[in-house]
Amino acid sequence: MLGSTGGCANPSRDQTARLLSSTTPLPERFSVPFVVPPVKQPVSRAGGASAYEIVQRRAVLEILPGRQTEVLGYDGLLPGPTIVAPRGEQVTVTHRNELYLPTVVHLHGGHTAAASDGYPTDLLLPAASPTGRRLSGHAHTTGGASGVVARGSRPYVYENEQPAATLWYHDHRMDFTGPQVWRGLAGLYLITDDAEEALGLPAGDHDLPVMIMDRAFAADGSLAYPSLDPRLLETPGVRDPYTAGVLGDVVLINGRPWPELAVDAARYRLRIVNASNARRYRLGLSPGPAGGGAPFLQVGSDGGLLAAPLSQHEILVAPAERFDVVVDFGAYPVGTEVVLTNALGLGSTDAVMRFRVVRSVRDASRVPEHLAWWEALETAPDTPVREWRFSRGGAGGPAHWLINGRAFDPDRMDARPRLDQTEIWRFSSDLHHPVHVHLSPFQVLRRGSDGPGRWDAGWKDTVDLTPTETVEVAIRFTEHTGRYMLHCHNLEHEDMMMMAAFETMA
Ligand code: C2O
Ligand code: CU
Repeated sequence: MLGSTGGCANPSRDQTARLLSSTTPLPERFSVPFVVPPVKQPVSRAGGASAYEIVQRRAVLEILPGRQTEVLGYDGLLPGPTIVAPRGEQVTVTHRNELYLPTVVHLHGGHTAAASDGYPTDLLLPAASPTGRRLSGHAHTTGGASGVVARGSRPYVYENEQPAATLWYHDHRMDFTGPQVWRGLAGLYLITDDAEEALGLPAGDHDLPVMIMDRAFAADGSLAYPSLDPRLLETPGVRDPYTAGVLGDVVLINGRPWPELAVDAARYRLRIVNASNARRYRLGLSPGPAGGGAPFLQVGSDGGLLAAPLSQHEILVAPAERFDVVVDFGAYPVGTEVVLTNALGLGSTDAVMRFRVVRSVRDASRVPEHLAWWEALETAPDTPVREWRFSRGGAGGPAHWLINGRAFDPDRMDARPRLDQTEIWRFSSDLHHPVHVHLSPFQVLRRGSDGPGRWDAGWKDTVDLTPTETVEVAIRFTEHTGRYMLHCHNLEHEDMMMMAAFETMA
């Protein structure tokens, strides 16, 4: 059923992962229209609070033209519906699990109370599973001693007391996050605020999410993934040689393969979200704008707006990172086809979508010199430093990937940081590991012996570590005490134990 290993000899210089090739014919690129995922409407909105209901269910979608693909989706969609939350509005999302397996919902980048953060053992069991049924042979997947387990439905509460930003929500079930996200459990969550709206950045249909997921498809049109247990109920993990991470040969943008979008000759804000399990992208525009300028003006990163826009010739985006960029299609003659290229891709993955400039318009948008107030986290010689080493574990068994030489244990707290105290966290790496910390964002201080890299600007919650690299960040947790985690966001590494838990203390 599953495709053979492609020509991409990974782990490589660019990816720590292995290509799974589709065995179904792939559509021609740029032949399907670009779509924006639907914005979810609340069931109620009053007094600064709103309530949403999302049903996690199976659905059959036409992802590849003329083919049927079953997904596990939020509201049966891939990606799920987008939630738009004004800053300060309390949002409660009640998820109902109508699937056949446990799930966990995490709002990635959210400043969320521990009870709603989606700790991997805080399971939401399916509404319909027979009582007492064993959901997994693996001790952790039933919650163990550590999980707060719900059945049927579960409310997740988000305060949204954080600046405007492009967040995303996705599955976080212990041991099975990779296959469950791959099959569809991921969606966008946008926080808006007045300060951002007042800037005059491209808005409305000139403000577009670009959620990138690579996938592979089997001959019958289903999503291919090398799970040891394709039902995702018993044995976690993936078959060799995919334990370093799974890459697909189809690039989906907002759930459509290599789509094309007709654009005005005007500025667009593209909210780039890498929702791929393991693939890194180096995005560029071809052709570049006339005059050879930088095609991207970066205005935001994971945690929201930058202090000032940053010109970028390319955007290197690791799994789970977000880059908010403005592209001015006014720099192209009407009729130009502009490809969003991927310099790290080979063959079918060397481009991700295409824009076609179709009309000239009056463009009232702008990108101001100053975007947002910026607080640099202060560090001093006595700032506490914590080390987190990301490395491959022993062969065999589920613990392929380790942090500080240890496999994840949901009941072991590996750090107890104090709220409101800035710390330096030093991440070091053997291979590629996109490192993500829950609860609070961080600022990159150093990459190796240099300052922050060119893609490290702003408030980050995920940072791309390359082989043998050390990255130091300043981090300060605020407001919420409880159990949180940091982990590698290569989802196969995450599932194979590359996570660590910490507890924030008042
Ligand atoms: Cu996007 Cu702990 O995850
Ligand atoms: Cu990793």
